[in-house]
Amino acid sequence: MVSKVTTAAGVEYSPGLEGVVAGETAICEVTAAGTLVYRGYDIHRLATTAPFEDVVALLIEGELPDTAGRERVRQTLAEAGAGLPGAIRVALPLMPPGAHPMDVLRTGVSMLAAFDPDLDDHTHAANVRKAMRLVGYGPALLAVIGRAGGVPWAGNGESFAARLLRATTGATPAEWAVRAMDVVLALYAEHEFNAGTFAARVTASTMSDMYSAVVSAIGTLKGPLHGGANEKAMDVLREVGSADKADAWVSAALARKAKIMGFGHRIYRTGDSRVPIMREVARELGARTNQPQWAEICEALEAAVAREKGLCANVDLYAAPVLHMLGVPATMNTPVFACARMAGWCAHVIEQHDGNRLIRPRSVYVGPVRQARV
Ligand code: COA
Repeated sequence: MVSKVTTAAGVEYSPGLEGVVAGETAICEVTAAGTLVYRGYDIHRLATTAPFEDVVALLIEGELPDTAGRERVRQTLAEAGAGLPGAIRVALPLMPPGAHPMDVLRTGVSMLAAFDPDLDDHTHAANVRKAMRLVGYGPALLAVIGRAGGVPWAGNGESFAARLLRATTGATPAEWAVRAMDVVLALYAEHEFNAGTFAARVTASTMSDMYSAVVSAIGTLKGPLHGGANEKAMDVLREVGSADKADAWVSAALARKAKIMGFGHRIYRTGDSRVPIMREVARELGARTNQPQWAEICEALEAAVAREKGLCANVDLYAAPVLHMLGVPATMNTPVFACARMAGWCAHVIEQHDGNRLIRPRSVYVGPVRQARV
């Protein structure tokens, strides 16, 4: 049930905009049954069959590609990554070694704006070009940010998922790892008016540029109540340590009123539809890498949190061990999420610019009246 508040002045509103419909979109739908749909395609089918290139084409260009179209998208993204300006490669490593990768990513995207010849052209065609560049930059940026070093970028035919794995692990990925990363990317790519995407749309609605909108989105995604949860969820799993300790850990966490990372969701009250797929990937990787404990801990936590608080797991709970088993350092979990969501963010900026109306809600003043009003 959506909780509404009525102010002393009798104005009713929804704190946190819970349940508020803030606009129309043709990009993504969460159905009444909780199914996640990208442009009319059920993501549960797409995630397990399509490479990320297909999802990018669908979200940004509007259609699933054929085989030739998929190769065109793969090449476009790879070329964008290879073209990451040298100044970015020089500047980002100047940030302090302790800087969080999300902060460095935000800075990198901000800096990239100055290099884009289409920056202030908000036509559909120019926005699509920028969107493909922004998605393509992802693995190259993460390679610089993660300082994995020595990552070859030239046209070696690698998919986006393979390049992202190489960027975050420093190693050539196995085929099964690439497939698992494709699933992660597809599930993370889009989620209608989530906080980060809404931030991007607010920025775009002033007819500011796509890079500024994406910088807003990255800053929003970073928070632990949003994308930052997939880094913190790994801390939880390590802290719990083994499935048999989950019950006691959850009781203690709830007793001190802690928010358990990887649980709860603003719009999924009966379960995040992405969880069953991510859970399956976690089990498969656990068997393949001989680390079954991570999925076991997640499942024990799911049972305990459901029993004690009636809350369901969200996708970040299982994404954390999946990325861990793929060899991605936990501090890169949210940047990987950002690289996937870049496709969704850019699609929303394009849609916002194509039919723009400034987003500017109202607030209710509840402070003191210190002067007679004129
Ligand atoms: N751990 C413990 N308690 C939680 C919780 C969590 N992860 N998520 C929600 N709750 C509690 C709230 O404190 C509230 O308890 P109360 O009724 O005793 O006050 C109750 O569950 C209902 O929460 P609600 O207000 O409906 O949540 P929300 O819609 O405002 O928040 C999130 C949604 C995602 C911000 C929240 O669930 C959360 O912080 N989750 C952890 C971070 C996370 O995993 N984020 C990724 C989301 S994909």
